[in-house]
Amino acid sequence: MSVISLNHVAMEFPSLEGIGSVRALDDVNLEFHENEFVVALGASGCGKTTLLNVIAGFLSPTSGEILNKGLPVAGPGRDRGVVFQKHALLPWLNVVENTEFGLKLQGVASDERRARARANLSLVGLSDFERYPIYQLSGGMQQRVGLARALTCDPDMLLMDEPLGALDAFTRENMQELILDVWRKTQKVVFFITHSVEEALFMATRLIVMSPRPGRITHQYELSFCDRFFETGDARSVKSSSEFIKMREEILSIIYGEEVGEQPP
Ligand SMILES: Nc1ncnc2c1ncn2[C@@H]1O[C@H](COP(=O)(O)OP(=O)(O)O)[C@@H](O)[C@H]1O
Ligand SMILES: [Mg+2]
Repeated sequence: MSVISLNHVAMEFPSLEGIGSVRALDDVNLEFHENEFVVALGASGCGKTTLLNVIAGFLSPTSGEILNKGLPVAGPGRDRGVVFQKHALLPWLNVVENTEFGLKLQGVASDERRARARANLSLVGLSDFERYPIYQLSGGMQQRVGLARALTCDPDMLLMDEPLGALDAFTRENMQELILDVWRKTQKVVFFITHSVEEALFMATRLIVMSPRPGRITHQYELSFCDRFFETGDARSVKSSSEFIKMREEILSIIYGEEVGEQPP
């Protein structure tokens, strides 16, 4: 059975001028299965964040349905953990306190939540930084805390909205590898948003390409470049292979073919 399924989902927002509406998503049909790494790729403004927000339960779609293991999604839930583009950590708490924060809200006893937070900080390579204040961490480390925090609540699904968008190229590549490693070890279902074609191809087991507004899924691909990375441990050789470059150019030509630029509604 699919973990989450979206059937004919549409989302309209009232326009900022107060006249008419903005159709951000249109007839989106999508299923997430166990252990999939689904990447959504599309131009800025095509509805990627809106799509993530309806899956997370932060927004209810204007029409269509979202089912979670067969039951309608009524709002956010512990089974879906979110990692935001900007880390959204609490600046007055240190690394381990931020990581265990969700469990604290759930009323989990302090020993247990500390142990679970530490296990996940170890998974993202931050065991030595648990007492650090957030402002002393680099952008990549802050995103790793965001990831550890989401994992600590042990969701079935991780939702990541351009989590690497603000990082420099070198850190970004390292983070791609780290996230794939965490995914392989934790077996979560991942929904990952990016506007980087290379990142999408490298990480996805399934890639969905979205059209400019109203956002629809126009193409889907089953991919296995991440498996090649797991086999060889060499990301650059995967990304520079002829199959990867051919696929990259195919996706780019789709995106540029559809690109109409961001326009007012
Ligand atoms: N709360 C909102 N109110 C009005 N319009 C919105 C709102 N959220 C998003 N939009 C509009 O919906 C469209 C899709 O936005 P978004 O999902 O953020 O795109 P993306 O994440 O792909 O850049 C954009 O035109 C955006 O201006
Ligand atoms: Mg967005």
